[in-house]
Amino acid sequence: MTARPLAAIVLAAGKGKRMRAAVPKVLLEACGRPLVEHVLEALRPLNAHPTVVVCGHGAAQVRDALRDRDVRFAEQERQLGTGHAVQCALPLLEGFRGDLLIVLGDTPLLTAEELLALVDAHRAAGRAMTVLTAEMDDPGSLGRIVRGRGGHLERIVEWKDASPEVRAIREINTGVMVVDFARLPAALGRLKSDNAQGEFYLTDVPGMLLSDGLEVDAHRAPDPGAALGVNTPVELERASAALRRRGTERLLDRGVWVEDVATTLVDADVEIGEGTILRPFTHVLRGARVGRNCRIGPHAVLREGVVVGDGAVVGSFVDLRACQVQAGARVEGHARLDGVSVGAHATVGAGAVTDGAGDGAGRTVIGDGARIGAGAVFVAPATVGEGAAVRAGTVVGRGGASAAGGPTDG
Ligand code: UD1
Ligand code: CA
Repeated sequence: MTARPLAAIVLAAGKGKRMRAAVPKVLLEACGRPLVEHVLEALRPLNAHPTVVVCGHGAAQVRDALRDRDVRFAEQERQLGTGHAVQCALPLLEGFRGDLLIVLGDTPLLTAEELLALVDAHRAAGRAMTVLTAEMDDPGSLGRIVRGRGGHLERIVEWKDASPEVRAIREINTGVMVVDFARLPAALGRLKSDNAQGEFYLTDVPGMLLSDGLEVDAHRAPDPGAALGVNTPVELERASAALRRRGTERLLDRGVWVEDVATTLVDADVEIGEGTILRPFTHVLRGARVGRNCRIGPHAVLREGVVVGDGAVVGSFVDLRACQVQAGARVEGHARLDGVSVGAHATVGAGAVTDGAGDGAGRTVIGDGARIGAGAVFVAPATVGEGAAVRAGTVVGRGGASAAGGPTDG
């Protein structure tokens, strides 16, 4: 069977005014990663090509944040509604034949499994359009799914347009839809904005195709969490917490021991090897990588550019940025290092700090097996030779002691 082509559109033009943030909503971070990138990660295994991101508010910022991704950008200058946003992406899909997946840029809990299941269900049923829905205990102001004869989808009603009876429905529109692309442009062209928000609603398209006699239905997601759209700061916190919880469970399943889930923060886009122990209050931030069988924390912070090798120990209250701590090395409590390579099996004593890193001064290199006493200060660039010992409290580097030779301290 040759696979039918799949393309995708991500709607990300809105301002998100309820967030009261300086950046466009889709660039706000949940679990250390912008909302829209969570959505693109969920899309990744589907290989949708092209993937078009519709931007508007803060378009330059959104493009810049996504510059390394294989996506095309469409611009929606005025946010006239989700239907209009999809219309703005059509020129970039010219000539495309196949199914189009439409997702919202503010639903970071969506998973690849759910998207794949949706596309599969849509294709298996041979429909013109399928809407991903979810059943929620507290559906708030999300769009409601009205089912009619035989329990099939009849239409979607936006909350602001809904009667009390329709508002009582607990099945909602997640915002994800898949549609036979051939059917879409004409339907979008027929949208009207005669509704409570004066917008062109994408949610009117399913009802329209149904009245044309086409096959359209709902596909219910098993996990209502997928439907959590981020519209308010409270929802952003909720999404972030849910993503962290999901990430921590994945770590535990892979043999990383998180001693205290409640106080440990691990961002998305972090790798941690089997057998490693994360002690309480430890933060592993975006871009950090930790090997196997390490002991980290308590209260350690590992920031961008940190790579910790197998079997290394990073003690309590240690704060690292852009550091390579090689296999078997030990960085003791309260060290604060930026731009340092710590050689294999080297020891950096408690309270060692770097000065002048991060301003282009270069890196500090500590050789394999070196022993650095407590409270050393490294003024970048500095070098400590293999197996060398540096006395407690020494200033190493520019103007200070050079410890590039053999042991300076027995
Ligand atoms: C939308 C759906 C609603 C659904 C909910 C799920 C419509 C009309 N409503 O409502 O049925 O339950 O999502 O979370 O589709 N956007 C644009 N251009 C626009 C308007 C929106 O790009 O002109 C983008 C926004 O950036 C956002 C997404 O589309 O990422 C959703 O827009 P939003 O205004 O948050 O829609 P909801 O009111 O949440
Ligand atoms: Ca929303």
